[in-house]
Amino acid sequence: MRRPFVAGNWKMHGTRAENAELIEALLLGLPGEVQVDIAVCPPFVYLWEVGRLLKDSSVALGAQSVCAEPLGAFTGEVSATMLKDVGVEYAIVGHSERRALYKEDDALVARKFVAAQSQGIVPILCVGETLEERESGQTMDVVSRQLSAVLDVAGVAAMRNAVVAYEPVWAIGTGKNATPEQAQEVHAHIRSAVAAQDATIAAGLRVLYGGSVKAGNAREIFAMPDVDGGLIGGASLKADEFLEICTAARPSG
Ligand code: PGA
Repeated sequence: MRRPFVAGNWKMHGTRAENAELIEALLLGLPGEVQVDIAVCPPFVYLWEVGRLLKDSSVALGAQSVCAEPLGAFTGEVSATMLKDVGVEYAIVGHSERRALYKEDDALVARKFVAAQSQGIVPILCVGETLEERESGQTMDVVSRQLSAVLDVAGVAAMRNAVVAYEPVWAIGTGKNATPEQAQEVHAHIRSAVAAQDATIAAGLRVLYGGSVKAGNAREIFAMPDVDGGLIGGASLKADEFLEICTAARPSG
């Protein structure tokens, strides 16, 4: 049985004051028995402070990226060792904004994945197609390519300590989510690609859906058999909305 997981990707949002308010509201609103793993991924500069605010809570700390290199002259970068040092447990790698805007290719994403795991940080590997790719029938090929790039470098065993997020690019921040059936189709494809190498690992792998998840559509998306939770952008910035999404991910619904 896969434990559901909901992660909030704050992107480049927040101030110290807003973060404190958001975390306070989140922790106050969380039920005692959560039944869902929850993480928030603030910008690097706030990781330490948000980590302090989350101390002794059931909400984990995640980063939005990680440097592929371990240490050295890489101006502007943050290493996995540093993330670990400030209490980070998860790191998003291969988010489509980083792939598109910062030209991160499959090879770099795979190296970031490995760098995170080298410090015991669980990578949240994002994969997903653009609208053009979907419309030309390439969705499964694109997702397979993005996944294989990591499997080839890290090996299937690495998927024991990883999470995959299917995030169709056309659904991110657009208000246009994939239908539950569209998500299920790709999630099943991701799981079967991993199962082709190791069925047990595939059965335990959590595959999240991301792209315009809101309180209003989370339940039907999370109800799909291969959807194990969500990676939430905009809606993770509002405590009430994020809490409702976390509740929707509970196995009991
Ligand atoms: P969104 O973003 O929920 O705002 O669409 C999701 C993401 O980019 O991870």
